Amino acid sequence: MEELIKPESIQVLVADESHERYVDTILTTIEEAAKVRGTGIAKRTHEYVANKMFEAKAVIALAKMPDGTERFAGFSYIETWGNKQYVTTSGLIVHPDFRGLGIAKKIKDLTFSLARTRWPHAKIFSLTSGKAVMKMNTQLGYLPVTFDDLTDDEAFWKGCEGCVNVGVLRERNRKFCICTAMLFDPEEHLPAKIPQEVIARIERLEGRAAHSQELRD
Ligand SMILES: CC(C)(COP(=O)(O)OP(=O)(O)OC[C@H]1O[C@@H](n2cnc3c(N)ncnc32)[C@H](O)[C@@H]1OP(=O)(O)O)[C@@H](O)C(=O)NCCC(=O)NCCS
Repeated sequence: MEELIKPESIQVLVADESHERYVDTILTTIEEAAKVRGTGIAKRTHEYVANKMFEAKAVIALAKMPDGTERFAGFSYIETWGNKQYVTTSGLIVHPDFRGLGIAKKIKDLTFSLARTRWPHAKIFSLTSGKAVMKMNTQLGYLPVTFDDLTDDEAFWKGCEGCVNVGVLRERNRKFCICTAMLFDPEEHLPAKIPQEVIARIERLEGRAAHSQELRD
């Protein structure tokens, strides 16, 4: 078996326009991984993923190789649903050459922090059959929930159309499927609920309202 060349270092960062050159590699890597797992995926176009990079809603991992070249190592992006009341960190992929190095965990931590910063009141959920993802979700404070607790945004559920198990989902009226639903509810992570008018007052006092709105759009 061919021995893998170890990277010198791995950088995990919020992607921008300069990373568009990796989009096609990302899409191919996601597609090939889905074939290996025998599952479906929410298919995304080059333009869709590139836009995530332009909007600072994507995280990329890049490997610096001993010969000085840079290689794509991993990726994930953020999607908002139901008028930004729900958020998902989607499309998590680590290139097979760089697995088992803790890259997925670093990507997940950064997309999660980015989502929490931009939409602090949104519920973050995950619909997955992946053991590694369930483990990372649990470490971040997601809890298993029923499908009723997820968004009813049709655009989200359309993503399941590409999955081999979509028939099961349809038969059960979206109440059950092969995947496990997990949810991080920001309100449950605070000992007391702060009324919206108090939050608005704090934002006014700190002159943050305009700025934070900008970040959330
Ligand atoms: C799943 C995937 C993203 C993991 O990437 P990775 O960089 O190798 O993962 P990490 O090294 O960061 O490991 C993160 C955690 O998951 C665990 N893990 C990783 N791969 C695992 C596997 N195949 N089975 C069970 N646990 C696994 C690790 O032990 C680690 O847990 P720890 O922090 O408690 O030790 C990668 O294998 C992949 O891209 N797979 C194909 C696509 C996919 O399945 N995406 C998820 C869609 S739901």
